[in-house]
Amino acid sequence: MTDTSSFHDHILILDFGSQVTQLIARRLRESGVYCEIWPFNNADVEKIKAYQPKGIILSGGPCSVTDPDSPRAPDGIFDLGLPILGICYGQQTMVEQLGGKVEGSDHKEFGRAYVDVLEDNSPLLKGIWQKGAHEQVWMSHGDRVTKLPEGFHIIGKSDGAPFAMIANEEKKFYAVQFHPEVVHTPHGKELYRNFTHNICGCSGDWTMAAFKEEAIAKIRAQVGTGKVICGLSGGVDSSVTAVLLHEAIGDQLTCIYVDTGLMRANESDQVVKLFRDHYNIPLIHEDVSDLFLKELEGVSDPETKRKTIGRLFIEVFDKRAKEVGDAQFLAQGTLYPDVIESVSFSGGPSVTIKSHHNVGGLPERMNLKLVEPLRELFKDEVRVLGVELGMHEDFVKRHPFPGPGLAIRIPGEITAEKLEILRKADTIYLEEIRKAGLYDAIWQAFAVLLPVKTVGVMGDGRTYDHVCALRAVTSTDGMTADYYHFDHEFLGRTATRIINEVRGINRVVYDITSKPPGTIEWE
Ligand code: XMP
Repeated sequence: MTDTSSFHDHILILDFGSQVTQLIARRLRESGVYCEIWPFNNADVEKIKAYQPKGIILSGGPCSVTDPDSPRAPDGIFDLGLPILGICYGQQTMVEQLGGKVEGSDHKEFGRAYVDVLEDNSPLLKGIWQKGAHEQVWMSHGDRVTKLPEGFHIIGKSDGAPFAMIANEEKKFYAVQFHPEVVHTPHGKELYRNFTHNICGCSGDWTMAAFKEEAIAKIRAQVGTGKVICGLSGGVDSSVTAVLLHEAIGDQLTCIYVDTGLMRANESDQVVKLFRDHYNIPLIHEDVSDLFLKELEGVSDPETKRKTIGRLFIEVFDKRAKEVGDAQFLAQGTLYPDVIESVSFSGGPSVTIKSHHNVGGLPERMNLKLVEPLRELFKDEVRVLGVELGMHEDFVKRHPFPGPGLAIRIPGEITAEKLEILRKADTIYLEEIRKAGLYDAIWQAFAVLLPVKTVGVMGDGRTYDHVCALRAVTSTDGMTADYYHFDHEFLGRTATRIINEVRGINRVVYDITSKPPGTIEWE
């Protein structure tokens, strides 16, 4: 539960583990409604009452309500007098808990499907779908509702789900079998808006301007006259955190930029210039590239690399923080997906794919209290906040860049020479992307220097040089991603430039792996 909720009408989303639950939150916030996602098993009725939501959404999930141990909405939730909307699994558990029936079906529906609208008067469909309409939706279900609970009636059906949309208008309970949160359900956002605005009575007063003012007030209240340090990486999250803090507490803030030597070409200069020239924020520029390179000598295992870098960050920070004086607070650009992901759906620890976010150990070691003003935001909302703070577009729209930097884009051992080769290739790649006007359409694009050498021929001579892999992905949150579909001319042009202009690379390949099964970075 956060303070923001007390200022605005808000909705509670109970998560049953769907891959797309976060999209529900995004759709709601896009229409000005603040909401939070709580795991279904971390919410009892007392806690929900205290949170005072205007309505509740039960998300989809991977389980089957026909399994005896499958999750259920908390006891008593249907007696709170609040409007409730069930999505997919949320529909099925709602039906089951209220006395209806759900069964496995041979007619499974995955992907595009169509619903026939059977009613004109439902507030859920007002202004979007009329009786007789045949509308595209996105389904993903094996089970289906076969008997309605008392008080419910059907407002829409599909081939595989005779109860695709149901309602109990008197109690304001609604449920749909499809996923209105995904873009493939074209009117899904309006359907959520009908629920939040018309049925729950939310005013839609959650704007980024309001968020900014509240965040500033909260920072001032938390920090008082204390000193805050903020680690800057040059990425969007830490930059927006720093600018917001500066607006809130002025020179009580000191930023530390750790130049690890693993940054892209000119990156350090750009970051330092921005913060010194544009914002006049006190900034310590710590150049520790020699130390990082020395400690990474001979390290080729990806996890050892990440852990070594994490440890060095802590050491450098620790040393410098003491010089800032009596700093009591550490500001971090933690985002909402990081907060939610830390609660595993099954209640157990989730598998570590990579040791991300290498400053995680800082507060404990340094005895500092955390200031995390972006904890409630998604990445794209952070960008909107950056614009609200007047930050330059170039900065706000930057692609994400990982804490361990280029170290995880050089599989195998890292050397100064390899870093230099990679920087040059990366610069050309991004130049070409910008020139083609594609930068903003891509979530992240970068070059990877492979520890593989191949034979080539240049001029009349034989070459034996590195392979460079190019990666570009589209994504909404970095959790899942697809490779970017460049045209071949673009790829050919870029590959030729890299091979011609970067000594040390004689072959270029393009990575067409999505996430999953791949990850975005190579290590
Ligand atoms: P993966 O490679 O896990 O990355 O698909 C997902 C997103 O996270 C970024 N990333 C990191 N960011 N510290 C960070 O701050 C890290 O250690 C780290 N590793 C990956 C990655 O660039 C992508 O945007």
